[in-house]
Amino acid sequence: MRQVQVSQPGGPEVLKIAEAPVPTPGEGEVLIKVQAAGVNRADISQRQGRYALRPGMPSILGLEVAGTIAGLGPGVTRWKEGDDICALLTGGGYAEYVVTPAPQCLPVPKGVSVIEAASLPETFFTVWLDVFDLCHLRSGESLLVHGGSSGIGITAIQLAHTLGSRVFVTAGSQAKCEACTALGAEAAIDYRSTDFEEAIQNLTTGRGVDVILDMVGGSYTIKNIRSLAPLGRLVFINFMESSRGEIDIALVMGRQLTITGSGLRPQTVERKGQIAEKLEKIAWPLIEGAKIKPVIDTVYTLEQVAEAHRRMESSAHIGKILLRM
Ligand SMILES: NC(=O)c1ccc[n+]([C@@H]2O[C@H](COP(=O)([O-])OP(=O)(O)OC[C@H]3O[C@@H](n4cnc5c(N)ncnc54)[C@H](OP(=O)(O)O)[C@@H]3O)[C@@H](O)[C@H]2O)c1
Repeated sequence: MRQVQVSQPGGPEVLKIAEAPVPTPGEGEVLIKVQAAGVNRADISQRQGRYALRPGMPSILGLEVAGTIAGLGPGVTRWKEGDDICALLTGGGYAEYVVTPAPQCLPVPKGVSVIEAASLPETFFTVWLDVFDLCHLRSGESLLVHGGSSGIGITAIQLAHTLGSRVFVTAGSQAKCEACTALGAEAAIDYRSTDFEEAIQNLTTGRGVDVILDMVGGSYTIKNIRSLAPLGRLVFINFMESSRGEIDIALVMGRQLTITGSGLRPQTVERKGQIAEKLEKIAWPLIEGAKIKPVIDTVYTLEQVAEAHRRMESSAHIGKILLRM
């Protein structure tokens, strides 16, 4: 089979297509014939050599795919050969075949193509883990999402809005802001022209928001803390500006704030399986009912993988970037 290999840490030009053996599914795993793979920000860091892979994590890029079950390891009962599925991976998705634990697979939602389904797993698992599991966002509460037009952002907006929350976002251009409000954000703040802290104070008449999903860190940290309502929760999923930030302990105590964060990839198969069950029960019917839709920016071929990475690094995209096998 063909797969994309990182010949050495560096720019998009280090991505090379190479031949490799088709993997064999182990106990509890499925073999997937991949139709499309999602491109994620973590793939960029990994290609640059800035992502510390833990033992057992594949070195091949690719955290999510959609395709057809082509083989079953011992003990798999839920799926059969020929089923169309989308799946969360710990790596290996930039390839024609990949194996993953069966609990990390979900059916392709009705009304969504197999290619489009490759855009779903990484962001839905992440948003569920961070916004709903860790921060317990409830209907009627408010959510601020930074990077509103990112793959993560478009999923967070749609899930939270559809489940009854007021959603505010920040994004880096007017076009990105418009895309976010079209997906259900009540207000989108162009952070290049408007101070988001001041905007959130105005939008919430000084109360602040209940939950903030942050991937920026750095200078956003103290502004996030000042933007939280009493009993507010702040969750970090990355620190694209800096992993260092300022915290005002008096505010954390006074407002009884919770500050948390997580990485999806190192979670156990069991935890990922639990999230998959929640998604299938709660989010998949919303996709099938067209209340939530995949937002695809561009689909590239496997040969165009370097171009796909360049587009993501340009941050010009809105929504997800995919690779078609
Ligand atoms: N912890 C986890 O488990 C987990 C899982 C998945 C993703 N993530 C993280 O979530 C974030 C979004 O992921 P994604 O794959 O959806 O990425 P993406 O589509 O590439 O979106 C990232 C967006 O963030 C915005 N941004 C804000 N500050 C930035 C900065 N300093 N540098 C670069 N971009 C900046 C950019 O849009 P603007 O024009 O609006 O600035 C950019 O388009 C990434 O940081 C990723 O690592 C974490």
